[in-house]
Amino acid sequence: METKLWSIDQGTHIYMEAAELLRQGETVAFPTETVYGLGADATNEKAVQKIFEAKGRPADNPLIVHIASASQMDEFIERIPEKAQKLIDEFWPGPLTLILPMKKGTIAKNATAGLDTVGVRMPVHPVGLELLRITDLPIAAPSANRSGRPSPTTARHVEEDLTGKISAIIDGGSTGVGLESTVVDFAGEMPTILRPGGVSTEQIEEVIGPVKSAKNVIAKEEAPKAPGMKYTHYAPEAPVYLVKGDVAFWEEQIEQAEQKGESVGLLISDELASEIQAAVNTIKIGSTQKMEDIARRLYDGLRLFDHTDVTLIFAEPFDRSGIGEAIMNRLEKAAGNKYLIGD
Ligand code: TXA
Ligand code: MG
Repeated sequence: METKLWSIDQGTHIYMEAAELLRQGETVAFPTETVYGLGADATNEKAVQKIFEAKGRPADNPLIVHIASASQMDEFIERIPEKAQKLIDEFWPGPLTLILPMKKGTIAKNATAGLDTVGVRMPVHPVGLELLRITDLPIAAPSANRSGRPSPTTARHVEEDLTGKISAIIDGGSTGVGLESTVVDFAGEMPTILRPGGVSTEQIEEVIGPVKSAKNVIAKEEAPKAPGMKYTHYAPEAPVYLVKGDVAFWEEQIEQAEQKGESVGLLISDELASEIQAAVNTIKIGSTQKMEDIARRLYDGLRLFDHTDVTLIFAEPFDRSGIGEAIMNRLEKAAGNKYLIGD
């Protein structure tokens, strides 16, 4: 399949052409403020199937449905709980997904993986939002990466993973937040954060009071609530380890790995980079004084190692407050929770 690559500089007609492809049941990748999404008509089972095939995504992992105006939800959402409405008023359009009860027979079965709930979000990125507005359909859109890979924050990342497998890509530059939306589940008694993301737990609790977090859910050894959480995610080709310890410990780990013939790469803050003396492939992802920068550059940093001869990646763990919670969630998944801990 030929994959068209459009730039937003080509003019507004590209929105018309992209919307037409979506209406015909084809797949189009587009920028949102979090990451690039791979869109298809959420009411068309065959179109949605193309998303799963292009990504190599397991069929039991449901997709998020994207809309351009809240009134579109009348078509497919059964009911909006009061607290969910408060979050909508505060954070939409923006990086927040709500899991809500679905009206039967509206969204394609494969989009929700057979669940009777649906994840909904209204993105704030002008390109994504305009495409949704012109298409005027609920659009299922997971991150536009091959399943298991770091999510795409540039059109180039989408090309790396999906060229030849999807109909078109709209290049709207680098995404702003750089990590996916926060997913809040309203199916149970108490709102539960299934995936930390662009809106922090602190920001959500300020609006609706205490929420459960998926961490507690998993600690109780229940089945994962967001099916996506059980799969390997965000992983570059080389294995990743999180390194917790002082500079001497870092240097010791690097030396030991090199003695074993590994080519070590570091994914670290500007601050740590200025302290470590070892001459290894280092990708600096920003200052710990600006955690938003680190969030924005994380996935690109992870992907950059795939273009080097690095065989082992050592990454820095960060403080978990604010956006740090989402950063650490993605880093721990990329590392498969592997830590090297000094004393
Ligand atoms: O920022 C984002 O959310 C991006 C952009 C493109 O909007 N999309 C995204 O989609 O990250 P995806 O498919 O990569 O992640 C969706 C997550 C998965 O963990 C999935 O299991 C969960 O949301 N999810 C979707 N629908 C669900 C449902 N009905 N119940 C529970 N979890 C759901
Ligand atoms: Mg994803």
